[in-house]
Amino acid sequence: MLTPRLEAIAKMIPQGATIADVGTDHGYLPLALLKRKQIPSAIAADINEKPLSSARRNTGKEWIDQMQFRLGNGIEPIGCAEVDLVVIAGMGGELISEILSADWEKTRSLSTYILQPMVKVPVLREFLLQNRFRILDEALVREGNKFYQIIKVTHGEELNFLPIYREVGPVILKNGGTVLKEYLDFRIERIEIIQKQLRACLEAKTDEIARWEKKKETFLEVKNNVG
Ligand SMILES: C[S@@+](CC[C@H](N)C(=O)[O-])C[C@H]1O[C@@H](n2cnc3c(N)ncnc32)[C@H](O)[C@@H]1O
Repeated sequence: MLTPRLEAIAKMIPQGATIADVGTDHGYLPLALLKRKQIPSAIAADINEKPLSSARRNTGKEWIDQMQFRLGNGIEPIGCAEVDLVVIAGMGGELISEILSADWEKTRSLSTYILQPMVKVPVLREFLLQNRFRILDEALVREGNKFYQIIKVTHGEELNFLPIYREVGPVILKNGGTVLKEYLDFRIERIEIIQKQLRACLEAKTDEIARWEKKKETFLEVKNNVG
């Protein structure tokens, strides 16, 4: 059984797609997809030998012919246009951006990506905007007190981009729902903690205080408009 985060990624993968799971670690995602017969084959890639060995061990004899294991940095071990979809999940937003910008010819040849940053979501969202990626789908998942944004993208211009989309994507906002409301409350609470800390610090700069106030207002406004 997959965790809610990996399950949400699995849901975005079309039936019959070939995939590469970059930074596969234990290989849980491609293995679950093979077992469900959702995908015909997968490439499990990782920069480290140890996780790749664990993925190989977990796969076992039954599925080994449908899974390839490749050692390397980011999408370097994947061929140009070799798979329908690439998953890069469970890494920081900066690292995901670095992986995507390491070899633009390769990156552009692979049509669709599912990205799941653990931290630095705005860094990745800004990178996607600046480098002409277009959002196809998104999900917001809660696991305990952690929230994860999942972003499915292809190449192309993003139209009607609003500043709030650097923090929370358009599809997540449009879909609304309980998890989004909880997430917005969580973000507002975090901003209030930072504001309290800034107020207690004599050296805090007025523009920094104003920046956080503006951010809080944006989140409050979004919260009031969420269905
Ligand atoms: C936290 S695990 C994520 C596992 C799985 N993708 C998930 O979302 O549950 C991160 C994995 O990414 C691998 N990794 C880190 N940097 C990488 C890179 N530049 N290229 C490929 N894999 C990388 C690590 O070795 C590790 O196995």
